Amino acid sequence: MANSLVLSSDQKVKDEFRSMIMKTLDAILTSIKDESAFSGIDPLVLREKVNKLEILPEEGLGFDKTLENVKDFLPHMLKTWSTDYMPHLHSPALLESIAAELIISVFNDSMDSWDQSPLPTEMEVAVLDRLAKLVGFENGDGNFTSGGSQSNISAIIAARDSFCKKELGYDVKKYGLPECYRKLKLYTSSISHFSMDKACHILGLGYEAVGKLPVDDKEKVDIKAFEKLLEEDVRKGFIPFCAVATLGTTDFGSIDDIGEMRRLCDKYHMHLHADAAYGSGLLMSDKYRYRLGDVSLCDSITIDFHKMFLLPISCSCVLVKDKSLLDCFELHADYLNREEDEEDGYINLVGKSMQTTRRADAIKVYVSFVCRGKDGFGKIIDHSVENAKYLYDLLKDDKAFICPVEPEISSVVFATRTSDEVNKKIRRVLLSEGTVIGQTVKDGVTMLKFTLLNPALTTAHLDRLVDRIRKIRDSIC
Ligand SMILES: Cc1ncc(COP(=O)(O)O)c(C=O)c1O
Repeated sequence: MANSLVLSSDQKVKDEFRSMIMKTLDAILTSIKDESAFSGIDPLVLREKVNKLEILPEEGLGFDKTLENVKDFLPHMLKTWSTDYMPHLHSPALLESIAAELIISVFNDSMDSWDQSPLPTEMEVAVLDRLAKLVGFENGDGNFTSGGSQSNISAIIAARDSFCKKELGYDVKKYGLPECYRKLKLYTSSISHFSMDKACHILGLGYEAVGKLPVDDKEKVDIKAFEKLLEEDVRKGFIPFCAVATLGTTDFGSIDDIGEMRRLCDKYHMHLHADAAYGSGLLMSDKYRYRLGDVSLCDSITIDFHKMFLLPISCSCVLVKDKSLLDCFELHADYLNREEDEEDGYINLVGKSMQTTRRADAIKVYVSFVCRGKDGFGKIIDHSVENAKYLYDLLKDDKAFICPVEPEISSVVFATRTSDEVNKKIRRVLLSEGTVIGQTVKDGVTMLKFTLLNPALTTAHLDRLVDRIRKIRDSIC
């Protein structure tokens, strides 16, 4: 069957497109046969299956035959909505946000210039303005990005450039790194996300520019140690330019003390960035927002919508308190974002972004925000936080388990009191049964991890899972 190429106002094309979408939806829904997260297929068997596929045939098969091929592999897609899936900060997508994805893909607007995305540009500006107010940046601004890593990297570029301009009187954008670049240092906890190291590499400062701060027994930055390190580093001639507080560490969900970090940043004229890729969900909760501290104290903040907010990948933004921080990304091209257009009121968002072509992700934030309201999101977040508290209490009161850190958000790190090998085996057995949990290392010991983002998870699910873990442990030991 010859398929139409692109959408048009022609009724025949519209009907064909509707039929393709309905058939696809039908194939997806038919492939979901139970509540498990994963088929449990062995990686080598799956690889062999994929290797047999003809990726680029000389002649196309048309949509219907292609869909038959796709139906064959759909059962092996991961089902992120399953209550048996909880290894990472990787969420299921809210139903209305998947509908919003369809709108984004159908229109395929690009966020670089107004003439490529008239409505999405205005929508993104409005959504960012609301988000800035939510974190207490009255005159703030921001930019949507591909994820927390890019949001963090964008913030650190802005931090370096503005620090060099204000404190060293030096224009990095124009002249590249200053001569003293080997002295510039960024500070963040030893368990912060690796995007800080990546950022320093990409910025030409190198991994050595990252001062890793020790954490206390609650997995938060040890402020006294930070203060001491700053004194020592400055004495040695280093130039602190930025500190990153993690509001929700990847493994533990621990939250650094933003007030204390602000105090030290003020003392040394440093930029304070908050990586709230995980913890930003708490902004929606009247009950638990206080755990973040006063986020308006930071100069920039990362928010990931594809974690606690349950929006489809990818969706993140970086917000800045002072709009001019994003000037570091401004550059004009005759073909794209002419200054004369901007003077006449056409907004070209490319001037605030590392990216040029960019998805209209603010649309799905708008759809889900309006659909559920702050109250609806608050209930989702509270449920996750309370599930984590339930699970922590269950494990800490059981002598068979170690559960070292009380959760502040929704992650619970634990281990059976056996050996690294047994704990690793437990995770693998669960995986082969279609249940996916996380694994990490704390103080050199292998730990297992539940990351509870799914609003469908109940305490009964958690009870059953802990029981199953006990049984697997007994069968191994
Ligand atoms: C604390 C934290 N920051 C940043 C990131 C990176 O986010 P992304 O995967 O969206 O790039 C993660 C990822 O899990 C994270 O846990």
